[in-house]
Amino acid sequence: MDKSQVIKRFLPANTPTPDDQAEAFAASNIALCKYWGKRDRELNLPINPSLSVSLADLGTRTRLTPIEGKKDKIRLNGKVVNGSSSFATKIVEFLDLFRSSKAARLQVDTHNSIPTAAGLASSASGFAALTKAINQLYGFDLDPAIQSAFARMGSGSASRSIFDGFVEWQMGVREDGMDSHAVPFEESWPEFRIGLLTLTEAEKTVGSRSGMQRTLETAHLYQSWPLQACADLEKLKQAIRDRNFEILGQTAEQNALSMHATMIASWPPLLYWQPESVATMQRIWQLRESGVCVYFTMDAGPNIKVLFEAGQQAVIEQTFPQVKVVSPFACQTPVASG
Ligand code: PMV
Repeated sequence: MDKSQVIKRFLPANTPTPDDQAEAFAASNIALCKYWGKRDRELNLPINPSLSVSLADLGTRTRLTPIEGKKDKIRLNGKVVNGSSSFATKIVEFLDLFRSSKAARLQVDTHNSIPTAAGLASSASGFAALTKAINQLYGFDLDPAIQSAFARMGSGSASRSIFDGFVEWQMGVREDGMDSHAVPFEESWPEFRIGLLTLTEAEKTVGSRSGMQRTLETAHLYQSWPLQACADLEKLKQAIRDRNFEILGQTAEQNALSMHATMIASWPPLLYWQPESVATMQRIWQLRESGVCVYFTMDAGPNIKVLFEAGQQAVIEQTFPQVKVVSPFACQTPVASG
């Protein structure tokens, strides 16, 4: 099924007159149970459900302003982006899903508060902020679950960034994917901390889109992944309800390593780790042996996200002086856009 067909069913027949301007913020998110593998590549429908925690004020703020002229203008962190770059093309293609060809072109100002080198996917917060801003600009007044399903068509993990805190992305069963959206949890966990460790600034060579496809097509080990992810999801939900950090950390770390195992078992092999990644994992295992309750997770890149509670923050900062600590449940005001 074509994504524009699916989206158009939820929009008025004629693109409404846009407001003068609309602006929205979406936080980035880190999956504790990962999404790896699509059952539908056009709609970004996943093979397994996933669960994430959002990164408070680290994310994307996007402003849309209707402009005269034939082309959209895209700016990233204050700088004009070349219209033929893949960044600009993805944004324009996404905007086109929501407006008629005759509708006014837009200036898109997008600001990421995520450190660019931190290896965090800005596509998750980027497509979520863009979806929210589109919804506002045209006054669509879409339910957040529908916005989540739409953001998913930009980037799978963006479905989770429509909400804050702990969020589950339910995989759904429908062919049009409209039941494949995120659902936020009521539970909060004020002591929960995520430490972002930038270990290398090297660009990754294989993006998640082609990485997951390669795994799906070539790794026999991948067969066990959906079962593991479903079991991990249930364990994580229970750990969140019980505020059991040990179970949460164990499950998240094993889930990330299992996903990486399927990647390594692909052909050609897909190894996102660098020597610094392995050294950091070993340091975390040593800390754990010495009684510190700390775990980690990793996405499709070499950097590590350290999981711990507030009581361990001093020892984590001492061990990893370059760590950036995020408190997902502390009240933080999103950064102002420039
Ligand atoms: O939706 P994408 O293309 O950003 O893929 C995300 C893949 C992982 O970050 C590895 C896992 C996840 O669930 O975020």
